[in-house]
Amino acid sequence: MSSPQLNNPEELKNDLEKSGDFSFLDQTLRPNKFDEYIGQETIKQNLKILLQAAKERSHPPEHVLFYGPPGLGKTTLAHLIANEMGCQVKSTSGPAIEKVGDLASILTNLSPGDVLFIDEIHRLNKMIEEVLYPAMESGVLDIIIGKGPSARTIQLDLPPFTMIAATTRVALISSPLRSRFSGGTFRLEFYTEDEIEKIVKRSANILGITLSDDAAREIARCSRATPRTANYLLKRARDFAQVHKGDLSSKYVADALALLEIDELGLTALDRKILEVIIEKFKGGPVGLSTIAAALSEEMATLEEVNEPYLLQLGLIERTPRGRLATPRAYEHLGFDAPEEAQRKLL
Ligand SMILES: Nc1ncnc2c1ncn2[C@@H]1O[C@H](COP(=O)(O)OP(=O)(O)OP(=O)(O)O)[C@@H](O)[C@H]1O
Ligand SMILES: [Mg+2]
Repeated sequence: MSSPQLNNPEELKNDLEKSGDFSFLDQTLRPNKFDEYIGQETIKQNLKILLQAAKERSHPPEHVLFYGPPGLGKTTLAHLIANEMGCQVKSTSGPAIEKVGDLASILTNLSPGDVLFIDEIHRLNKMIEEVLYPAMESGVLDIIIGKGPSARTIQLDLPPFTMIAATTRVALISSPLRSRFSGGTFRLEFYTEDEIEKIVKRSANILGITLSDDAAREIARCSRATPRTANYLLKRARDFAQVHKGDLSSKYVADALALLEIDELGLTALDRKILEVIIEKFKGGPVGLSTIAAALSEEMATLEEVNEPYLLQLGLIERTPRGRLATPRAYEHLGFDAPEEAQRKLL
């Protein structure tokens, strides 16, 4: 077996990052039937009932909202629902709907039974939300024509449709909007290692990759309990195996993880920096998220949406009213001695 020239790890890492075409991955690997969608059992049970009942009434299912960290399968569920109902999806996102007119044209162009998928719904502006309320509740669109005393409202009937919305920041959604998702509001949970292992094996099958059981397990362990990351790691490890002309074994998974600076808990370099800042600069906390973001020159929203949920899930940080605290487990993971104080602060 000939070894390729890996002179510059940085260059290779950049190449690997560039070739990580996530959209292509999402398209091909996205399950579009309930049996292929692994995990999230409670959500699946709820949705199956919702869809079955809707089918029996010959009416589109009621509106649903999915929330949770990125890459857990919210968009996938929206497409899956449409597929199971045998209807079309029209996709848009909160920031893409700039004017009331944009929303009006989307709604009036729906066909009966369509699914309207609005991603990042938390970024919808308030004026547009107001127009959405009657559309969701009563299937009508109120349009104001003219200005001042001569202004009048006309009401258009909309075709029956199902709105599915997704967000990573449910707290930013106003309660009137939230309450209009009469089909349910569902929080996606992180996956277990067993579930991710199944997802990795399914993806490998689709992509025509032969991988060993221990490679699948290793990917599952380091995937932040997130299917998108697992698929990404699978592809990166496959690149290593291909370059070395070998089968995808755990050795190549380890190589890919090392190059991407992902550790045995699945933490990225940024996750570790967050913990380091809390421990080293702020004596373990409590420290506000905005201060951590400023210390790292990172966007607060990124830390809150992408990094924090997984760190909380692993019990490496705690969220308190006064800010974030590093737990003794975080000290241990980074190889610091946990001061007794760290334990006490948690009590
Ligand atoms: N339950 C699952 N079973 C199998 N594969 C899954 C599952 N959930 C997600 N995936 C895979 O992970 C990819 C990412 O999922 P998806 O795009 O639905 O995440 P998302 O929650 O919408 O993320 P974001 O918040 O970034 O939009 C999908 O393309 C799919 O391949
Ligand atoms: Mg999505």
